[in-house]
Amino acid sequence: IPVEDFDLVIFGATGDLAHRKILPGLFKRYVAGQVPESAQIIGAARTEQDDAAFRDMAAAAIAEFGGVARDDPQLKDFLRHLSYVAIDAQGEGGWSALKGKMRGGVVQAFYFSVAPALFGDIAERLAGHGIADADSRIVVEKPFGRDLSSAKALNQTLAQHFDEHQIYRIDHYLGKETVQNLMAVRFANVLFEPLWNAQFIDHVQITVAETVGVAGRGSYYDKSGAIRDMVQNHMMQLLCLIAMEPPYHFDPDAVRDEKLKVIRALEPLAPGDIVRGQYQADGDEPGYPQDAGDGHSRTESYVAMKVRISNWRWQGTPFYLRTGKKLRARTSEIAITFKEPPHSIFDDSGTPKANELVIRLQPNEGMNLKVMIKEPGPGGMRLVQVPLDMSFADALGPDGQDMPDAYERLIMDVIRGNQTLFMRGDEVEAAWAWTDPIIAAWEEGKQRPEPYDAGSSGPEEALRLMHRDNRRWREIR
Ligand code: BG6
Repeated sequence: IPVEDFDLVIFGATGDLAHRKILPGLFKRYVAGQVPESAQIIGAARTEQDDAAFRDMAAAAIAEFGGVARDDPQLKDFLRHLSYVAIDAQGEGGWSALKGKMRGGVVQAFYFSVAPALFGDIAERLAGHGIADADSRIVVEKPFGRDLSSAKALNQTLAQHFDEHQIYRIDHYLGKETVQNLMAVRFANVLFEPLWNAQFIDHVQITVAETVGVAGRGSYYDKSGAIRDMVQNHMMQLLCLIAMEPPYHFDPDAVRDEKLKVIRALEPLAPGDIVRGQYQADGDEPGYPQDAGDGHSRTESYVAMKVRISNWRWQGTPFYLRTGKKLRARTSEIAITFKEPPHSIFDDSGTPKANELVIRLQPNEGMNLKVMIKEPGPGGMRLVQVPLDMSFADALGPDGQDMPDAYERLIMDVIRGNQTLFMRGDEVEAAWAWTDPIIAAWEEGKQRPEPYDAGSSGPEEALRLMHRDNRRWREIR
């Protein structure tokens, strides 16, 4: 779908996110024909450099992180859209040059790919210099605050210059193809929704397992931990999409209203319902203390929790969440375990097992529904569970192979003016309001996280969280 002509300014254009995600994402959209002929992508950062140097820097980043050949003719063409202004976010240098570049009459978007401490300075100068107006859009990244009060303060700062409909808070999980697909599966089929409640669903498991550690990001991560880094945002969004009521329409506020209701219905977490872990060295693999901490850090690199949603639909169906670094495999999935059939008519044929629907977010995006069938053969009525397995890559051919990166989708949504996949201010605040007491209780307790070996499935204690309820985690593989 073509988009309108635009001027996109990237503050922090020399930084890591711009190099890894934003610029390669824009290039891919350019190749897909979604960057109009006269669109401008303006890099802005403190470094003094000219357009040519910025284009070189961008080309190197796109080649490295976008898997594109440095001499790709399309890359050369794309660079024509790029220019640069050196800007001082906290001073007055560069702002009139930026103003001179903006065209007016086209979509204007400002991507704040900078530390949150600078959001206020940049917003103020964009408004003060008359660069942004009531139609401009701004894009901000996580971390959006580190607790409720800092998130509120950030929201207030932005609100001084921009309306909520102009603010695009990115949670890149919402841009992942399979995450959006959750809504299609639920609301474009008649099969699942009638069963989508506590009467038929025994429990839900949401897993985001990573193999990477925190080496290189320790100074950020050690002040965050898995709860702030993954649960308050990405995991919470996944939970909302599974648990929410059908919105009346696929429209930004209708969807976000429903997500907000889920967050508000979360029960406070009981102390016994959470396990924190920290990876330890295993053979050559360094542990968290070497990667980040000073050896005494109590920051968790793993968390598992049992979450309850206090509303009619979910009364009695727990949601188990776990996420961690340096685990056995990189796998993100949502598994919905249905209840067992109420009665078996088959004697001695094997007990019918509960159906399970697994939505794989990454890698190998797809869905897998486990159903009971008769084992083929003349040996009588024997039951066996088989997967109805659908890999998007197989089912959708080339379209399924080449899943766009979350950032590609989200940046284009900004240009289109579609906020459905962005977090609203009240949603972020509600998510912090739920996580704050969990973090505070931990800080007061002064316990150490449970150790787990790098390359394992996480701490033993997390298994007990499930066993206690006569359930088991799915294997991480
Ligand atoms: C980021 C976190 O938001 O998401 C990282 O800060 C994490 O710690 C990353 O590794 C995971 O994203 P993805 O897309 O690789 O699953």
